[in-house]
Amino acid sequence: MTDTNKTTNQQWGGRFSEPVDAFVARFTASVEFDQRMAKQDIQGSIAHGKMLASVGVLTEEERDQIIQGLTEIEDEIQRGEFAWSVDLEDVHMNIEARLTQKIGITGKKLHTGRSRNDQVATDIRLYLRDEVDFLLEEITRLQQGILSLAEKEANTIMPGFTHLQTAQPVTFGHHLMAWYEMAQRDYERLVDCRKRINILPLGAAALAGTTYPIDRNMTAELLGFERPTYNSLDSVSDRDFAIEFTSTASIIMMHLSRWAEEMVMWASAQFNFIFLPDRFCTGSSIMPQKKNPDVPELVRGKTGRVYGHLMGLLTLMKSQCLAYNKDNQEDKEPLFDTVDTLKGSLRAFADMIPAIESRSENMYEAARRGFSTATDLADYLVRQGVAFRDAHEVVGKAVGYGVKTGKDLSEMTLEELQTFGSMIKDDVFDVLTLEGSVAARDHVGGTAPAQVLKAIERAKSDLALR
Ligand code: ARG
Repeated sequence: MTDTNKTTNQQWGGRFSEPVDAFVARFTASVEFDQRMAKQDIQGSIAHGKMLASVGVLTEEERDQIIQGLTEIEDEIQRGEFAWSVDLEDVHMNIEARLTQKIGITGKKLHTGRSRNDQVATDIRLYLRDEVDFLLEEITRLQQGILSLAEKEANTIMPGFTHLQTAQPVTFGHHLMAWYEMAQRDYERLVDCRKRINILPLGAAALAGTTYPIDRNMTAELLGFERPTYNSLDSVSDRDFAIEFTSTASIIMMHLSRWAEEMVMWASAQFNFIFLPDRFCTGSSIMPQKKNPDVPELVRGKTGRVYGHLMGLLTLMKSQCLAYNKDNQEDKEPLFDTVDTLKGSLRAFADMIPAIESRSENMYEAARRGFSTATDLADYLVRQGVAFRDAHEVVGKAVGYGVKTGKDLSEMTLEELQTFGSMIKDDVFDVLTLEGSVAARDHVGGTAPAQVLKAIERAKSDLALR
């Protein structure tokens, strides 16, 4: 990156009487970070050049020179040979200046009928569309990972929790399929967000449109956009799509942080429900016995920065008058960091989840200890004709007795149970077992292993359609 003391304003120096201050040049430049969109900038410029030629603003020769020059520039950038200059402010002017260096005056014609304002809006949309497509694949991979673990664990019994207190037995597969549902909504939200990304602002020029006979439908089609935007002022100032994306990313990170929290707890010695393979953990520099669940912890922590970016972008756009303002240059770093954070976090979870091993004996034991079939006993009493509220009371007393004597409901004798309700018969033990309890919740969305397997089949056929 070159950074001289006096800069030359070579792209817009016409009306200036002194060069811009060197610090101001650095302060206002965005090339350090927006060079990430170089590929999309070139893609957009090639489409713009083709369109200009098709409406007669450029000759076919000029068009071909531009395409040739830009293609070479893309190569230079890919090979790491492109000399980015802070004096040229941003990715757009760096590439344009290099084009002019290579092909001469024709390079200076590329910017006909456009402005950096509609150019940058186009580049961000192209960039984000590419990233969203990749993220959709990562979410799919994550969902496949969840499914493969859920399939193994469809019959594994664990305590289900409310308030982190043992509530009712569930299957581990059912718990995992809850994660799957969250990921499914994330996928759908991202698909929905993509629709509003995929609209072409190019043609809005600086803010009011252009006097050239441009064909925006053609440019939209060349770039794979659904259609051109319908208002030039809105086109150059709209960043809703970036906010929506970051909001979708925030919800995804919120989900990952919840799974992370569960993994961290379950991997602890106190729960000991799961084993996280060593490759997803690290040790302690002082305590030799430690194996820390760093990956889920870090993802949980990274959620905060994505929320921060959402708030940053909302605040960036707050009270901004139409149309483009330089403020908007501040959209990129939060957006890029959101993309990077989300990619890393999804990748880590998609790799890690299918590698989780359950400690099913510990899960089973925890479910057995926590009076988790108390509701089943109450439901049993209801089937014997007791009103639910009264049944609740009876079972509450039985649990109180269990707490005092250290016995789970299934460990009490029939005689003991009958002291709480004479209608209790020998068949009560069918409902007091953990297996009976989960198997009985056999309806759409229930925890019965049969239902979990059905949910997995449904999910698999959904994924096969993607
Ligand atoms: N680097 C600028 C940005 O990211 C490009 C648009 C500049 N437009 C302008 N009128 N200064 O927003």
